[in-house]
Amino acid sequence: MPIDAAKLRLSIPFFREIEPGLLARIVPFMFEKKFRKGQIIFLEGDEGDEIYFIGSGAVGIYTFDKAKKVTLAFLREGEYFGEMALLKPGLVRSATAETLMPTRLYALRKSDFQTLIEQDRNLAFHLLDYTMERLRKANQQIYDLTFLNVKTRIVKRLLLLGEEYGGTRIPVKITHQQLADMVGAARETVSKVLQELQDQGLIEIKDKTFRLIDPATLERKLLEDQ
Ligand code: CMP
Repeated sequence: MPIDAAKLRLSIPFFREIEPGLLARIVPFMFEKKFRKGQIIFLEGDEGDEIYFIGSGAVGIYTFDKAKKVTLAFLREGEYFGEMALLKPGLVRSATAETLMPTRLYALRKSDFQTLIEQDRNLAFHLLDYTMERLRKANQQIYDLTFLNVKTRIVKRLLLLGEEYGGTRIPVKITHQQLADMVGAARETVSKVLQELQDQGLIEIKDKTFRLIDPATLERKLLEDQ
């Protein structure tokens, strides 16, 4: 089924911010892919042949150090991934991508993506803009891991997730292990801190979804510890 440009513009900020003419040139090359929860989209080290935009659902980006899984990012509806291995010949996937819930992706093949970039340098600039934002986030993660204690990192991550979902409810299911992977901590420590926050009436966890009951106090805790 052909992809509807208006729908794409609505759900993916990357496409909302480019000229309609450029979007109209991209859309005919795009196709949909559907995944169940917990499916591997690609593995670190694979040859990259497509870039993906998330129409609905969520994707975890991981890398492995021996047996330990390190979470680089949790991407959700509207975000894209898989561009890094497409820009230069010989590059492979820098990380593994796995779905965290049923997920619908809009895909673009490497050859089409490269042709489109060569034809319109605005697309390259636009990608660069998003890449800078990712670098900024990665730098912040390095800072947090270096200077913040585990509890503060957990509180900060919960506040950020709440913000990303536009409120106090985090509608996706997050396990203690996933949260531990996100903040670079042991699962046991995360469970202990979450219990503490629940006992203090600051958060509520039901069926692995979080609600921030008192974001103002959480915010204060963050500032005190920083
Ligand atoms: P690629 O290397 O093709 O495959 C893995 C993808 O994960 C990569 O492209 C990026 O799109 C994405 N990725 C890698 N590192 C990060 C990060 N720190 N933050 C967000 N996305 C990332």
